[in-house]
Amino acid sequence: MASFTMEDIDPSLAESIQSGLEAVEERLHAAVASSDPMMRSTAPYLLDAGGKRVRPVLVMLAAAFGDISEPQLVDAGALVELTHLATLYHDDVMDAAETRRGTTAAHRVWGNHIAILTGDFLLARASAMSANLGSEIVGIHAHTFERLCLGQLNETVGPGESDDPFAHYIDVLSNKTGSLIATAGVLGAKIAKAPESVVSVMREYGEAVGVAFQLADDVIDIRATAEESGKTPGTDLREGVPTMPSLLLRAHVAEHPDDAASANLLAALDADLSSDERLAEVVDALSVHPVVDETEKLAASYGDRALALVDSLPAGPARDALTAFTVSLVRRRA
Ligand code: IPE
Ligand code: IPE
Ligand code: MG
Ligand code: MG
Repeated sequence: MASFTMEDIDPSLAESIQSGLEAVEERLHAAVASSDPMMRSTAPYLLDAGGKRVRPVLVMLAAAFGDISEPQLVDAGALVELTHLATLYHDDVMDAAETRRGTTAAHRVWGNHIAILTGDFLLARASAMSANLGSEIVGIHAHTFERLCLGQLNETVGPGESDDPFAHYIDVLSNKTGSLIATAGVLGAKIAKAPESVVSVMREYGEAVGVAFQLADDVIDIRATAEESGKTPGTDLREGVPTMPSLLLRAHVAEHPDDAASANLLAALDADLSSDERLAEVVDALSVHPVVDETEKLAASYGDRALALVDSLPAGPARDALTAFTVSLVRRRA
């Protein structure tokens, strides 16, 4: 992972987490295998490209509040990463992204149809994995996937006339990102038979840290280099996908019509950004605008909410590890 390393945590816990994650990697590789010649190329493609494995890490961190040696944790870690992977194939089609995990986005290699079907295939494999974990977890997984779809849908549809655009956006983030992160924590705690109070804190924690994580992603889209993030800067801006900085800029211009520089930047944002040079100019101009600092502050405030929830958990190496993880997610550059 970018900034969270096992060195940040208690050595014996780190060893258990590391061995759990290695088993998850093996399970993931087995889960994307197919006898179909096309799927054999497309399904392992993004798994092999890299990624931080944030969600399986959280499964293991949450499990540390119970019995981390529970063998079903391996399926749970693979389940959340497979589900995440499926959304990445679909998201890159929706966002017309060029790169993902430092490589060419799948739809740019094989076309939209194959990328979408690969996402569906991975979701089928994730569902098979949830079946190993029992009907309660099948239900949790189904509900999570419903929320992922609704988040992506409502991002696309945008707020209604009477909706507050910021509240609408936070709701989108909590559905499209918070839901799966919360499920990672819930599954880890449940399967490890941690106390019920830990399960419910993990649910709330995941939603808060998920929103913080996605707001940090909005900043990364503007301030990180392609080398750091593995994604093309400005992807969301080019496609007109709303992000917190663009919403804040819109609100700022409405409130301060005399701020010509901001009004020009907003006009540039709404204009054609298909040329790489133009997009780079707009990304550069936006990256120094205070709305990006404001987005960082907002991410930090959701991060603080998540940290307060962590503080309510039983003290010990598991809590210390979750604290280090939370800080790394909010302050990340990748
Ligand atoms: C990217 O997720 C999509 C978001 C929810 C922001 P990650 O930042 O976890 O992506 P990988 O798994 O490391 O590639
Ligand atoms: C990723 O969302 C997809 C989901 C969270 C379901 P984004 O479009 O905001 O993330 P990146 O920047 O492409 O990774
Ligand atoms: Mg998107
Ligand atoms: Mg995207």
